[in-house]
Amino acid sequence: MEKHFKRTLITSALPYANGPVHIGHLAGVYVPADIYARYLRLKGRDCLFIGGSDEHGVPVTIRARKEGITVQKVVDRYHTLIKDSFERFGISFDIYSRTTSATHHKLASDFFRKLYDDGKFIEQVSEQFYDPQTGHFLTDRNIMGECPRCHSAGAYGDQCDKCGADLSPDELINPYNAETGNPLEKKATKHWYLPLDKDQAWLEKWILEEHKEWRSNVYGQCKSWLDGGLRPRAVTRDLDWGIPVPVEGAEGKVLYVWFDAPIGYISNTKELCDARPELGQWETWWKDEETRLVHFIGKDNIVFHCIVFPAMLRAHGGYILPDNVPANEFLNLEGNKISTSKNYAVWLNEYLDELPGRQDELRYVLTANAPETKDNDFTWDDFQARCNNELVAVYGNFVNRALQLTQKYYEGRVPECGELSDYDRETLSEFRDVKERMEQLLEGFKFREAQKEAMNLARIGNKYLADSEPWKVIKTAPERVRTIIYLSLQITANLAIAFEPFLPFSSQRLRQMISLTPSVLKGDGEGSLWEQLGRTDILTPGTALPKPGLLFTKIEDETIAFQKKKLEDTLKANAEAAYKAAPVKPTVSFEDFEKLDIRVGLVKSCEKVRKSKRLLRFTLDDGSGKDRIILSGIAQWYEPEHLIGKNVLFIANFASRQMMGEESQGMILSAVNYDGGLSVTTVLDPVKGGSQVG
Ligand code: MF3
Ligand code: ZN
Repeated sequence: MEKHFKRTLITSALPYANGPVHIGHLAGVYVPADIYARYLRLKGRDCLFIGGSDEHGVPVTIRARKEGITVQKVVDRYHTLIKDSFERFGISFDIYSRTTSATHHKLASDFFRKLYDDGKFIEQVSEQFYDPQTGHFLTDRNIMGECPRCHSAGAYGDQCDKCGADLSPDELINPYNAETGNPLEKKATKHWYLPLDKDQAWLEKWILEEHKEWRSNVYGQCKSWLDGGLRPRAVTRDLDWGIPVPVEGAEGKVLYVWFDAPIGYISNTKELCDARPELGQWETWWKDEETRLVHFIGKDNIVFHCIVFPAMLRAHGGYILPDNVPANEFLNLEGNKISTSKNYAVWLNEYLDELPGRQDELRYVLTANAPETKDNDFTWDDFQARCNNELVAVYGNFVNRALQLTQKYYEGRVPECGELSDYDRETLSEFRDVKERMEQLLEGFKFREAQKEAMNLARIGNKYLADSEPWKVIKTAPERVRTIIYLSLQITANLAIAFEPFLPFSSQRLRQMISLTPSVLKGDGEGSLWEQLGRTDILTPGTALPKPGLLFTKIEDETIAFQKKKLEDTLKANAEAAYKAAPVKPTVSFEDFEKLDIRVGLVKSCEKVRKSKRLLRFTLDDGSGKDRIILSGIAQWYEPEHLIGKNVLFIANFASRQMMGEESQGMILSAVNYDGGLSVTTVLDPVKGGSQVG
């Protein structure tokens, strides 16, 4: 059943204000949401794009304690930083507000109170983990202990990072406060629960039957939640940061962050509409059946947006429910998980500072690699390759040639179109239905494929110019060149339109280069710029074009090397910080120790062992007058010539072994570093070969 919608309300997950946003956030949520918003506006459709910071919850309080500042300072700092970087990156929110705003506090508080007054909650007293030393109740994520499944230390109250098990704090062995290490007690506390079990039936019908068109990852996750049977969920917490529970006897309790944050979408819409009456009343955007609500989120947010928030909205009454929730999977970085707490990410603010003016390059690559159906990996090499081989070599190159030829042959004016050849017609037919194809993909949230269509247009243009060879034809049939350039410029205009939702910065530059006036950018249906897509008469003959500049420039190797090094340094620092010395082995007696004959050897020569990546072949002066040969697996860490002349420690009475067809007479001692690297042991002052160690 196709519904008719008059307007679209686009929301994007409110990022926690506990750190800057990174490319994972961008690829998962903000770039696709922005493409969608820009596309709808370009088509002249009525839409709002809502964003804001999520400033409550535990993560911000942890950050504050770590940095020794107030929570308010933390959220102020990151809200400003995030808002500013989104703006520089061209995420075109109609509003970017915050959940600490007065509007939001009131709206969320009233929302809770209405559900409370209508008897929609159940009250329940339960035993929760409590730190008697700090006087705080702890949230799942703040409790650590031994994993009941794999028995590794340091599992969280909600999950074990080692074995991936979903846990509840009660299952942890010897639970303790993750921050202070204090042991925990159980203490009774009252909370309010949303009885989701009562929503099971309508949610099943609404999602599983009426929204089969949702992405399979979203539908699948909902189905597995529903199949598992929904249970009541607490919507309040014992915490001193957040929106106070507006009920008598609830002192010291706040709304659970996942209760108030999605209401933030509503508060921010209200704040926007109150400030700009021409946008209509906020209620129209949230309560009118002709509004289409779309939530852009990452996959870890699915249950909250597809099950919990809809249940809240329905319990309240009067609100519409989301029509679609195009959640993305995760983006990894150079093969590793992106992590705010481990500082492993490409941070948007740093990217903008370090690669200035290259917003569209990142937008392009994040969309080309969008984790729409499965987790994907961002690598700096791939970033460079896509920028240089696609944006520069295909799109930029085509546009540049078309514009340069216009300057050269027609004094920078759009020429008249002559008669079309068969090849011209063939080329035109190749992109006649690009608009329809892109619309279908964009409306189906297939942004990766949609962007490919735009790039394909550039490929068509490039091939057309290369095949038509105007620079040769100009000598024999100048009339023909008019048509070639005319069509090339029309393809260029098509590119400026097709890429507009994806690459707004370069599209704007390109529109200036071809004098395509922005007045038609935000059209209304028929006359809108988007409606021109696929046409070959967008630019009028005679139009004067300014001197063109380059649309894209290459990304240099040094830029990539610098970024890769930054990430490697972070990994190293993390490994170093996480390093714990291995437990000490069982005690040995002096007699046992004396059985080992450890000596100093002088390295007479050292070389790589042929056909082995691992082994170095040492010839030692061991004081016996005869050479001693030892093979050691340290080739990865040393240039053999650097070891010659050095004193090394070795075990002289170690049973000899055959390695790579040679007898190794002993073992050279090396220390194993935190990262697995090996470091050969030596003595502080030179001694004679054969000296005993003990
Ligand atoms: N702050 C949450 C996160 O980053 C997302 C909140 S989305 C909202 O995972 F709906 F609650 F706003
Ligand atoms: Zn485990």
